[in-house]
Amino acid sequence: MAAIEVKHVTFSYNANQPDRTDVIKNLSLEIEEGSFVALVGHNGSGKSTLAKLLNGLLLPTKGEVRIFGNPTTDASKIYDIRRNVGMVFQNPDNQMIASIVEDDIAFGPENLGIEREEIIRRVDWALSKVGMLEHKKGTPFKMSGGQKQRLAIAGVLAIMPKVLVLDESTAMLDPQGRSEVLKVAHELNKEEKITVIHITHYMEEALGADRLIVMNDGEIAFDNTPAEVFTHNEELKKIKLAVPWDTQFAIALKKAGIDVGQPVKEEDLIDSLCQLL
Ligand SMILES: Nc1ncnc2c1ncn2[C@@H]1O[C@H](COP(=O)(O)OP(=O)(O)O)[C@@H](O)[C@H]1O
Ligand SMILES: [Mg+2]
Repeated sequence: MAAIEVKHVTFSYNANQPDRTDVIKNLSLEIEEGSFVALVGHNGSGKSTLAKLLNGLLLPTKGEVRIFGNPTTDASKIYDIRRNVGMVFQNPDNQMIASIVEDDIAFGPENLGIEREEIIRRVDWALSKVGMLEHKKGTPFKMSGGQKQRLAIAGVLAIMPKVLVLDESTAMLDPQGRSEVLKVAHELNKEEKITVIHITHYMEEALGADRLIVMNDGEIAFDNTPAEVFTHNEELKKIKLAVPWDTQFAIALKKAGIDVGQPVKEEDLIDSLCQLL
């Protein structure tokens, strides 16, 4: 089943003005339930706008977005849609409310009016899923960027979404933090069957995805497996995206039957190669 259907969607922030500019242009795509999709594109290509169209924060100027069959324009379904599509954003510091970790994670389910026993269960589950259970009584503000983003993911998980959208959630993190967040996203996809849409401008983070969608000026430029998309290096450069050398190297090795996993930084690749040797 398609978790998400985007049908001929056009969006502009100034729809009623004579100098209207479309930032999403007649875009169509379907995202299968359970898949892990990476979405990349240069700054201003429309990634965040598309993300906000997926949970009804923005509504199409033209066309339609359906989440598990429900159009985002259906006001009676918007509550379900928002609960089903959880979003994590770029800045970890803007996503925390409470001064104690467990209270922060409980905030979402509390707002849904969920009963106390169930909230306690969900807080523990969500924290353990992101590897932060031992920090349950900790202070979010004192944590590293990677830990804060994992908490932000836990906060969304506590609402039990079917789809998780990470909008540049790794952009402000160091390589260690990026690896942590990416690992958690892949685990949630595999173990909990959560559909993941990982928006990033780091091309190498797309390597482990089932599918890579490349956006350019409000349109889809490429949509295929990461390995296939990465073969279009020259065209990608023209739309201001480059495939890093270590990613290209990892792909070449994989084609030769040597799996070095998903290096997000040079050292990862070197580590894997050393282990193989
Ligand atoms: N709130 C807004 N009002 C007007 N224009 C916006 C707004 N948000 C984004 N834009 C414009 O829409 C285009 C797409 O932006 P965005 O979706 O944020 O791209 P990305 O996330 O790929 O960087 C850009 O030209 C941006 O300037
Ligand atoms: Mg953005």
